[in-house]
Amino acid sequence: MINWIRFTLMTSILASPLAAGEPRFFAKPGTEFGVYYYPEHWPEEQWERDITRIGELGFEFIHFAEFAWEKMEPAEGQYEFEWLDRVVELSAENGLKVIMCTPSPCIPAWLSTKHPDILSMDETGRRMIHQGARLTASLASPIYQSYVAKIVEQLASRYGNDPRIWGWQIGNEPHIQTVYDYSPAARQAFIQWLREKHGTVEALNASWGGPFWSFSVSDFEQVQIPTPALPQPNIHARLDFQTYTMEEIAQDLIDQAAILRRFTKPEQWITTNYAYFKFLPNVNPFLTKDALDFSAHTMYLTSNWLNHSGDSLAHRLGSGMELCFSKELANSTNGYTGIMELQPGQINWGKFNAMPLPGAGRMWVWHAFALGDEFVCTYRYRQPLFAGEQYHHGIMMTDGVTVNSGGTEFLQAVDEIRTLTPRMENDARSEFIDTTRTAFLWSNRNILDMENYKHHENWDSWQHIYTYYQGLKRLGVEVDFFEEDSIPSPEAHPFLVAPAHQMMSLELIADLEAYVRAGGNLVLSTRSGLKDPQGHLWEMKLQEPIWPLIGGEIEFYDHLPSGYPGHITQEGVTHSWHVWGNVVQPGPGTLTWATYDDQFYAGKAAVTHVSLGQGSVTYVGAWSGDWELEYQTLRKLYGQQAGELPFDLPPYVFVQFRQGLWVAVNYTDQSVRLPVPESASIHHGARDLPPAGVLVWEN
Ligand code: GAL
Repeated sequence: MINWIRFTLMTSILASPLAAGEPRFFAKPGTEFGVYYYPEHWPEEQWERDITRIGELGFEFIHFAEFAWEKMEPAEGQYEFEWLDRVVELSAENGLKVIMCTPSPCIPAWLSTKHPDILSMDETGRRMIHQGARLTASLASPIYQSYVAKIVEQLASRYGNDPRIWGWQIGNEPHIQTVYDYSPAARQAFIQWLREKHGTVEALNASWGGPFWSFSVSDFEQVQIPTPALPQPNIHARLDFQTYTMEEIAQDLIDQAAILRRFTKPEQWITTNYAYFKFLPNVNPFLTKDALDFSAHTMYLTSNWLNHSGDSLAHRLGSGMELCFSKELANSTNGYTGIMELQPGQINWGKFNAMPLPGAGRMWVWHAFALGDEFVCTYRYRQPLFAGEQYHHGIMMTDGVTVNSGGTEFLQAVDEIRTLTPRMENDARSEFIDTTRTAFLWSNRNILDMENYKHHENWDSWQHIYTYYQGLKRLGVEVDFFEEDSIPSPEAHPFLVAPAHQMMSLELIADLEAYVRAGGNLVLSTRSGLKDPQGHLWEMKLQEPIWPLIGGEIEFYDHLPSGYPGHITQEGVTHSWHVWGNVVQPGPGTLTWATYDDQFYAGKAAVTHVSLGQGSVTYVGAWSGDWELEYQTLRKLYGQQAGELPFDLPPYVFVQFRQGLWVAVNYTDQSVRLPVPESASIHHGARDLPPAGVLVWEN
């Protein structure tokens, strides 16, 4: 069975029985807490001791088996589930609900030995090997697909009707180990995908700019996968391959979900644990929103690969902003989420792996709770004694029986949150949160296209997106992500931020205009609307399709060396910039909010604002070096539209509202004073919030 049949299935797959945004699986206020346990890593004699203890420590659920394919099927067709039956039963006896996983990330040795071409290839054409990593299979391989279907069917038929199983996780942190798969199976699937998308080679050549450097093909079979290992790959071909990969990764989840749904009870939910959207931009959680009940997410905060404060405690406190982003993006596909993996202590794969600051582990749990995660699952119960993650802390010491400092903090936070649960109300509202709720326009393809062709060595699409996202968090507003075809209403989301949304269709621009005219406040930035949806520049003036929206003309873009930055002044405050600056000629009625100070265009507009219909459009033409121009622009806009703003938070200090409680957390090395009203009742902490501090109050 070749892959194009799978792609046509994509649209017809069984839809989730739940309407979006209806977290009926997690109806009560508060959060449920759980832990990962790998029976396959420990002697069978210890299972009862360990699972009993997990129950005694107060966990509500336990997570099994995402890497245990070889234990479930030690030889082809020889299925062994008695061991899993036993731990499921032990879990039930100890009051623990079970998250059961499909083991697709780890194909057994007998399978890759029998079918070596089931393994994916990296961009140099090197095949993965069995003793390498996980997630090594080629998702495009029909052999992989058929074996996964069999093991998932076995699992689902055994546990799909089992009341002890709470829900299902498909695979683990969906992606391909090599990020992209360059195997012959992937090439064939890609070619078929291109046939479906473009129909004819003429259309393919037109889309890929065929005449440029004689890139045209006369037959689809002449298509090669464009690899960045070779110089100057065709950017349009590359974007198509990235988009194909995105759909292939999603299709693996959709296929597995369809099998599970044939057997699962309606009470059992199905999800996967999406990871690091920043490192895996070819993974798009929106593609599985109909097949899964919701998207779960994972986050390890202290790797030092993430965006953090950079101050003297950043390596111990980690990145609270990326926890926010991960939660809010995962939440946006179906309206609710849970965090499947949260580190309890040191991790093993960071640049270096510092001990968290005492209190940090507690803060992370509180933060995940405050963000609205329906469950928090700590990774993992016991620190592994062998293999590739030896130095990753569990909540127990290496003896397996003593709770370590991270575990103690995790359990402390659980206890504190549970104590306050009776005070929580599902329907509690905050007027500030409701009147500032912000939509963020999301498109993986857009990010990929900019990353394929940065145009300035310091362009970083993620940092640009985070510039705005962090500004929103400093205001304390909540963010929901939306895809291009689902622009929300201004009633539900009075603000819509779409930074550097480079590829825009005319339909999208019309939808944005309708949103604004109906009362929405839209923020656009530098590269917005530069290209059409296939990544070609418009055969019009620069960014001309968005001129009517921004109420001005964009004259040109400029880029500077970092050593000779330009400057922009807004309300008496000067900001530097160097990566990307668009010079704007405002039309009649359009206000200039900031101007360039220097270069040959000194005095021209850098930030503009215009009223349009019932709403407004703010255009930020440059990207500032310290992100302050953007923050102050957002502050001005939100202040004008939503009234007095309660928070003016330093970066990496966060405030969240959940079910009647306000929670502030501090990921910086300085104490911060929080503007908690005199009349508030404070449950934890004080208005002066120290590093790793948690402040919980009710207004
Ligand atoms: C996660 C992964 C887990 C484990 C963990 C260790 O990204 O899903 O299986 O490897 O990292 O930090």
